[in-house]
Amino acid sequence: MKFFIDTANLAEIKEANDLGILDGVTTNPSLMAKEGITGQENIIQHYIDICNIVDGPVSAEVIATDFEGIVREGEYLASLHKNIVVKVPMIPEGVKAIKYFTSKGIKTNCTLIFSAGQALVAAKAGATYISPFLGRLDDISTNGLDLIAQIRGIYDNYTFDTEILAASVRHPMHIIHCAEIGADVATVPLKAIKALFNHPLTDSGLAQFLADHAKGN
Ligand code: G3P
Repeated sequence: MKFFIDTANLAEIKEANDLGILDGVTTNPSLMAKEGITGQENIIQHYIDICNIVDGPVSAEVIATDFEGIVREGEYLASLHKNIVVKVPMIPEGVKAIKYFTSKGIKTNCTLIFSAGQALVAAKAGATYISPFLGRLDDISTNGLDLIAQIRGIYDNYTFDTEILAASVRHPMHIIHCAEIGADVATVPLKAIKALFNHPLTDSGLAQFLADHAKGN
């Protein structure tokens, strides 16, 4: 299972990368705005900065919602760095653009997936990744993990290469359940990645080992 970090914060991206278990990065316009990254030039430079930190796929989202605009924007984003994955919304024009990008060898991440039907359509268009937002489904009293499991079953029935990138992951148990279900990737906030490392018995066990060692020295 691959771990991506879901942020545009460079310090957090560096910290996660330094842990040695990071495979990629996802961003979206809200995450960029949260970091105060505005204006086309700054946004583009920010993607390049992220690519210079992490040697893995970096999702950069298009703003256009029409086919020509998505293609124009996506081709430009893809030209910035070999690791850029063009993130495209799950709308008919977006799916058409994903089909086009697939034919040109440009990697895509179909975002805002909330149903199995959407996941099926995106896979048929050749999306490299699909991003089901599990936390946002949980927010409206719908089990997001059930959707990940349903999509896993559908993709395994056929020969889709599309990877399930579990998104809107909020806490460590989401990550564990995604791994149990067989999501290919989880994109996660730094806090949830770091929470995976912790266990009180590890802390107390280590303290005991060090104390016992100190007694004999
Ligand atoms: O990867 C999508 C993610 O950024 C959305 O997360 O927490 O805003 O639902 P959230």
